Amino acid sequence: MLPFLLWVGQLLLFAVGVSTDELLTALQNTDDCSSCLDFLATLKTVALSGNDPFIIAFTQLCIQLDVADPDVCTGLVAREGPILAHDLRSIGTTGQTARRLCDALMGQCVSKAVNPFIVPLPKSAPTQPDVLRSKGRPPLRVVHLSDVHIDRMYTVGAEANCTKPICCRDFSTQRPTVPAGPNGNAQCDSPISLADSMLAEIERIGPDFSIFTGDVVEHDTWLVTRPEATDALVSFNEEMARALSAPVFPSLGNHDSAPDNAFARTTSHTTNNSNWVYDTESIGWERWIGPNAASQVKHISGSYSVQVPGLKLRTVAVNTQMWYKQNYWLYDSDIPQPDPNGILAFMVKALQAAEDAGDPVWIIGHIPLGKEDTLPDQSNYYDQILQRYKNTITGQFFGHSHKDQFEIAYSNYSEQTAANAVGLGWIAPALTPTSGNPAFKVYDVDPDTFEIMDAKVYFTNISDPEFQIAPTWELYYSARDTYGPLVGLPPSAPLSPAFWHNLTEVFAVNDTAFQLFNTFITRGADVGACSGACVNSTICDMRAFRSQDNCDTPAQGLDLRRRSSVRATGVSKDSAECEGFGLASILSGAF
Ligand SMILES: *[C@@H]1O[C@H](CO)[C@@H](O)[C@H](O)[C@H]1NC(C)=O
Ligand SMILES: *[C@@H]1O[C@H](CO)[C@@H](O)[C@H](O)[C@H]1NC(C)=O
Ligand SMILES: *[C@@H]1O[C@H](CO)[C@@H](O)[C@H](O)[C@H]1NC(C)=O
Ligand SMILES: *[C@@H]1O[C@H](CO)[C@@H](O)[C@H](O)[C@H]1NC(C)=O
Ligand SMILES: *[C@@H]1O[C@H](CO)[C@@H](O)[C@H](O)[C@H]1NC(C)=O
Ligand SMILES: *[C@@H]1O[C@H](CO)[C@@H](O)[C@H](O)[C@H]1NC(C)=O
Ligand SMILES: *[C@@H]1O[C@H](CO)[C@@H](O)[C@H](O)[C@H]1NC(C)=O
Repeated sequence: MLPFLLWVGQLLLFAVGVSTDELLTALQNTDDCSSCLDFLATLKTVALSGNDPFIIAFTQLCIQLDVADPDVCTGLVAREGPILAHDLRSIGTTGQTARRLCDALMGQCVSKAVNPFIVPLPKSAPTQPDVLRSKGRPPLRVVHLSDVHIDRMYTVGAEANCTKPICCRDFSTQRPTVPAGPNGNAQCDSPISLADSMLAEIERIGPDFSIFTGDVVEHDTWLVTRPEATDALVSFNEEMARALSAPVFPSLGNHDSAPDNAFARTTSHTTNNSNWVYDTESIGWERWIGPNAASQVKHISGSYSVQVPGLKLRTVAVNTQMWYKQNYWLYDSDIPQPDPNGILAFMVKALQAAEDAGDPVWIIGHIPLGKEDTLPDQSNYYDQILQRYKNTITGQFFGHSHKDQFEIAYSNYSEQTAANAVGLGWIAPALTPTSGNPAFKVYDVDPDTFEIMDAKVYFTNISDPEFQIAPTWELYYSARDTYGPLVGLPPSAPLSPAFWHNLTEVFAVNDTAFQLFNTFITRGADVGACSGACVNSTICDMRAFRSQDNCDTPAQGLDLRRRSSVRATGVSKDSAECEGFGLASILSGAF
């Protein structure tokens, strides 16, 4: 099948006047912004002749560069290639959008410059904001789970040490060298048994409610279909509903679509849209969020705002994929799109309504705003909203990185002090064992201020011999107990943005404390070494709620890491493992 396809591909490309060798040479000569734009121009020539030659050419590049198995190349490009071809046909090859594509695909033309845009706000901040006061009542308990990535085709006994982006499936008829155990493997996404085990533990802990920050579908980016993704979303909603007696407030992740990362703009000049995802989750989430919010999910690209039953708290869930660098649907216009699908405008509306009612808000989303994989524009615009509604927003919760992390927002990012710390993004660890031990967070929450009094991470140790018999979950650490004494946190004070800022100052001078954090990132498995410049950039990233402020400078090294992330490992420090194996993995394989 494949040699024939390649042969057809050569013919098609010949007809377009571009040979695979030419493409390969252009790609391999890409070492700066202008050569990247030249490469896009060559690719555009192919795209203009149709999706088929484009897919074949791209697949050949992938195979010749040996960045993945041929079937992985073929499946991935067939899924994601048409979006890129559509982009190239829709835009010029020298403008800002082309440069941003170079950034997203190849780490070239990287710029953190923001297109100036003032987010429209209905009212200015009240001069005398309502201040919520703690009455010292016993805390609520809230569970934060994320990135479950359940592989419903996980096969016990299948090869766990394969050459695909994820293993533990019947990819080969050969006798496995490392047979997959019943409950999971670091090379594979979560089996259902592991997810069930976590849900049972959450129910045992007995939260008042849970928040789920997305990514249900596994990393089979080269195989995923709409029916498979739909089934994954429906099934996990049902599993959560069966296992958990308290409500769940979910949000969509970048893998909760097919192809993954693909959430179209409603104004794109195509018939394609992601309504099937929003329709599926509108139905699946209604049991927890009610009919009004379910209708918002359907009409506001998966976003919603709802009162938590019985509490003076609203959750506002946002589709962060509309701001995601690897959502290739965002690159099909040369005109800047400040608010794709109106998610930012929806946030403003929901926050204004909450402020008017005197209700605090928790924001729930998948992708934290401060990393290099959020577009600097939308990250900056989101931050404008945060600055305006900082008295209303008492918590912001994300996942995506698979890591136990946090990001601090400041009223002035040039003056990063405890006094200027105005917001915090809490980032939950993942269930999937591909990036460290499976884990989730439990927050103690003041029921009057909805501030976080403690954040406890629970985990299961996949290296423990008992794990394959039955995963046992245990408290890994309490942030209050571990970090509180390091900054002299008073007993009744919350884990506020100022607390976390002060902790970063401790991390900068106390390497023992920093190394503890570094170990916690992956829950003690595959801990990445971090010293010197790595410590500085990690602390810089803790202080970056906007992506324009982080210290992730994608240099040549990023490309190499992306290549190795074909097999995502826990030690990888960049965002590639969140993306899964994608188009950028192919192009960066050339270096
Ligand atoms: C949009 O959908 C049409 C019809 O399903 C499909 O043929 C086309 O390839 C899609 N376009 C992209 C860019 O995915
Ligand atoms: C997995 O496969 C690689 C490459 O084939 C090999 O080097 C490695 O030793 C294997 N690991 C295990 C645990 O068998
Ligand atoms: C922000 O901090 C910088 C550096 O201290 C200072 O120069 C600037 O005036 C501050 N901006 C505002 C708006 O306070
Ligand atoms: C942070 O540190 C500053 C300066 O040492 C101190 O005034 C402030 O109380 C601390 N804040 C918290 C929440 O620990
Ligand atoms: C540094 O951090 C460690 C680990 O948390 C702690 O035990 C130690 O007391 C800290 N050192 C100082 C000087 O605060
Ligand atoms: C997990 O279990 C292994 C094997 O028993 C042990 O070496 C390791 O320290 C454990 N990890 C954690 C974080 O407890
Ligand atoms: C880390 O930051 C400190 C303080 O900002 C600086 O003195 C030091 O040189 C930096 N170290 C590295 C390796 O960049």
